[in-house]
Amino acid sequence: MATAQTLLEEKTEPAGLGMRALICIQDVLVEYGQPGKPSKRILNGLSLDIRAGEFISIVGQTGCGKSTLLRLVLAEEMPTRGQVLVEGSPRQQPDRRCGYVPQKYSLFPDRTVLENITFGLEVTEIGILGGFSPARRVRRKEFQSEAIGYLHRMGLRESDASKYPHQLSGGMQQRVAIAQALIMRPKILLMDEAFSALDPGTRAGMQRLIKDLWRETGTTVLFVTHNPREAVILATRVIALGRTGADEDGANIVLDLSVPDTGDELAIAALVQRVERTTFPGGAESDEQTGAPEV
Ligand SMILES: Nc1ncnc2c1ncn2[C@@H]1O[C@H](COP(=O)(O)OP(=O)(O)OP(=O)(O)O)[C@@H](O)[C@H]1O
Ligand SMILES: [Mg+2]
Repeated sequence: MATAQTLLEEKTEPAGLGMRALICIQDVLVEYGQPGKPSKRILNGLSLDIRAGEFISIVGQTGCGKSTLLRLVLAEEMPTRGQVLVEGSPRQQPDRRCGYVPQKYSLFPDRTVLENITFGLEVTEIGILGGFSPARRVRRKEFQSEAIGYLHRMGLRESDASKYPHQLSGGMQQRVAIAQALIMRPKILLMDEAFSALDPGTRAGMQRLIKDLWRETGTTVLFVTHNPREAVILATRVIALGRTGADEDGANIVLDLSVPDTGDELAIAALVQRVERTTFPGGAESDEQTGAPEV
């Protein structure tokens, strides 16, 4: 079994994994223009290779660019300099390979829970089948039963399927948003503080669920969290973003830590401490402390 000492070894993977990487972030710099002021640099020449099947937790102080990094992978945003490749091709626009659970609730307010969950499949598959063909009706029924399956896995009830987002609590809405992403079976799942609105019990359940789904499907996960313990428990690798120089220089990777699959509580505690010290040198900033689920 790995000891706390061996677990503390930093990742030594050489830079430039290149073609073997599923996601290849190359020397990415992001700046935002500000009227009447010099532009604001957020990410400063960040490079990161991610292999298929990794579960990457991303931590860092508020405003350091975690959500920006996810949006670059999604291709909702383009870097000022550098590039992001997925499967060897530069990102140009969001596509089905990336599922995204954004930091803020994102459900369609005028669609029911069921319609929200099946929306992506409707657009990508029913759109192709077209018209009122029997094939379309059959597929729609299949989507609906699949959506109900995801509802159950998210701990929601079948009776919630016909509700509208405003009739749900924040945590329930977030679980619908997760189901909406999962039903598309994305190769890459981007989750931005997806569990922060959940109470500790529900959060622990969702942590177990996401780890199980990751094991079952082999999806590559990029998971942003403010909670160092959650980061370590879930991930195969923790990436911490932070500033190495002046504030205006923007952030880069300050820690790249492999997390061996071990149930050794001492080793986990040592890793959590390492992440805390690097990410929040002045003291913890994490959201509410959560229990330690056996994931
Ligand atoms: N479209 C934009 N225009 C200008 N500034 C932006 C834009 N998007 C993000 N920013 C700024 O970029 C910085 C990084 O934002 P980002 O949302 O990526 O941080 P974060 O690490 O996700 O923070 P948090 O932990 O609070 O969610 C912030 O200072 C934010 O104000
Ligand atoms: Mg954010």
